[in-house]
Amino acid sequence: MNALIDRAVVEFDRALRSIAGLHRAQRPSPAAQVAEGELDDEDREHSAALMRVDHVGEVCAQALYQGQALTARDPGTRSSLERAAREEADHFAWSAERIRELGGRPSLLNPLWYAGSLALGIGAGLLGDRWSLAFLAETERQVEQHLRGHLERLAQADARTRAVVETMRSDEARHRQTAISLGAAELPEPAKLAMRAMARVMTAIAYRI
Ligand SMILES: [Fe+2]
Ligand SMILES: [Fe+2]
Repeated sequence: MNALIDRAVVEFDRALRSIAGLHRAQRPSPAAQVAEGELDDEDREHSAALMRVDHVGEVCAQALYQGQALTARDPGTRSSLERAAREEADHFAWSAERIRELGGRPSLLNPLWYAGSLALGIGAGLLGDRWSLAFLAETERQVEQHLRGHLERLAQADARTRAVVETMRSDEARHRQTAISLGAAELPEPAKLAMRAMARVMTAIAYRI
C-alpha cells in the first residue's frame, strides 16, 4: 500500500510538471541538427497548429502511461511503461519547443486533456495488464498513423518540424511493438472505432484551441 502511495506521489509530481510544460527532454531534439527552412506565415501557422495537435497527443500519451504504470500489476510491465513514458516526455518537450519556434502556443485545454487521459489510463489499468496493454498498443498504432498523416500535410520546406514528427513516429511504432511483446490482447473492433472517433474530435479541437 505504501509503495502504491509513493508511486502515486511521484506520478502526481510528474503530472504537475507535464501540465506546466516543465519537462526537460532526455534526448536532444531531432530538429537540433536540422537547418530552418524557408517558410511563409501560412506555412508557419499551419505547422504550429499541427504541432499543437501532436503536443496534445503527447500530453495524453504521458497521462495514459502514467495511469497505466500506476495500476500495472507486473513489475516488468510497469518498468516498460515507465520507460515509454519517459520517451513520451521527450516528445512532449520537443513538440513544445517547436511550437515556440514557430510562434504558436500549446493547447489551452491541456490540463483537461491530461486529466481525461489519466483517468482513462487508470481505468484501462484496472481491467488488468493484458487489456491495459491492448488499449496502449491500439493508441500507439493510431498515433503513428496520425503522425504519418501529418508528415504528408507539413510543408516540404519545414525540415525541422518534419524531423521531430518522424522520430516521434518511429518511437510510437516501437512502443506499440513493446506493448504487443508484453502480451497485449487485441481490442474488439467497436472499441477501436470509438477510440478513433474520440481522437478525431480531440484533434479537430486542438488544431484551433
Ligand atoms: Fe509520443
Ligand atoms: Fe508512444
